[in-house]
Amino acid sequence: MTYRVPFVEPGKHYLNLKDKIDTTITDVFAKGDLVMRKQLRDFEEHLATFVGTKYAIGLNSGYHALHLSLFAAGISSGDEVITVAHTFVATISAIVHCGAVPVLIDVDKDYNMAMDKIEPAITSKTKAIIPVHLNGRLCNMDKLMTIAEKYNLMVIEDAAQSLGGKYNGKSAGSFGLAGCFSHYPFKILGGFGDGGALTTNDPEIARKTTLLRYNGEDRETGEYHYHGYTCLLDNVQAAVLDVKLKHLPRWIERRREIAELYHQGLSDIMELSLPHFEGEKYFDVYQNYVIRTKKRDELFSYLKEHGIETLIHWKKPVWEHTRLELGQYHLPETESLCKEVLSLPVNTEITDNQVSYAIECIRNFYGYSL
Ligand SMILES: Cc1ncc(COP(=O)(O)O)c(C=O)c1O
Repeated sequence: MTYRVPFVEPGKHYLNLKDKIDTTITDVFAKGDLVMRKQLRDFEEHLATFVGTKYAIGLNSGYHALHLSLFAAGISSGDEVITVAHTFVATISAIVHCGAVPVLIDVDKDYNMAMDKIEPAITSKTKAIIPVHLNGRLCNMDKLMTIAEKYNLMVIEDAAQSLGGKYNGKSAGSFGLAGCFSHYPFKILGGFGDGGALTTNDPEIARKTTLLRYNGEDRETGEYHYHGYTCLLDNVQAAVLDVKLKHLPRWIERRREIAELYHQGLSDIMELSLPHFEGEKYFDVYQNYVIRTKKRDELFSYLKEHGIETLIHWKKPVWEHTRLELGQYHLPETESLCKEVLSLPVNTEITDNQVSYAIECIRNFYGYSL
């Protein structure tokens, strides 16, 4: 189906940067710079500067950023790691693949980890917390870091959806032992295939994850230090991401403008909750613009009929995927969100007219005039 307002427009996105990207890709191919070359190092240096950390390590996914961070931090069998249930399953799988036990807690009204639920979940086996900065908004990092320090827990940030987001002027991915980013094509900074990165100020985490991403091998000496993985960020993807990174501040501003248009157009609709949460310390980058409504499924179908593509993140709580064997939880906010949330289109290609049309359709659905 062709949408009048698609959720994302990767073709248009490419065409807007075509000259620069074509030149970059051709250059990488012509030089034969395919694996761990200058383009990767440049991107890592620029990403670290952007996030405000000493190191960034390019990987092939956000999942691997999470997994390698946990592994390098020494998380292993028998340990417990606290995170939220309202996240993409990769956050939880990364914990499971270290042999550790994910302890899932509920979220707050802003869809992020509920700070008052952390302490009751801590046991003698707890080693780390993974706050997930969802939809482009950071968790309350003052409170989270205070709790982590009090109980001597490591913090690994899942910042897959929040590159460029800030809390109290400090960027996502720069608070904890490591920050984990996804460069999946539809993320704020997306490649032309899978990609991810890990940021850290810790030289040992940087060293270990750099080795782990290529089979534990020290490329200088040929020595294998760990049983590692093959999860490098491809050089060509790194080169493309480096080009795109220069545009990121402008793209973030555009996302915030779109959010403001939705806010202006929808804030009087009583049946809707909009993601303009309170808190002066937050700088949100709107990876997703998530509205909340009791009539979510009807609105989804209505918008589809009218040519507007929306997505649902996520339709059922992760523990209801019984094959994942995550145990039985009852987390009321997570359960309600699964029934009520709807992500509206936000991307750098969408025009003001398309946003106005989406607003008009939502207003019509609820019987509000323009
Ligand atoms: C919150 C969150 N965590 C982790 C990931 C995993 O990232 P990737 O798809 O690059 O493995 C994603 C990606 O969708 C995500 O949204």
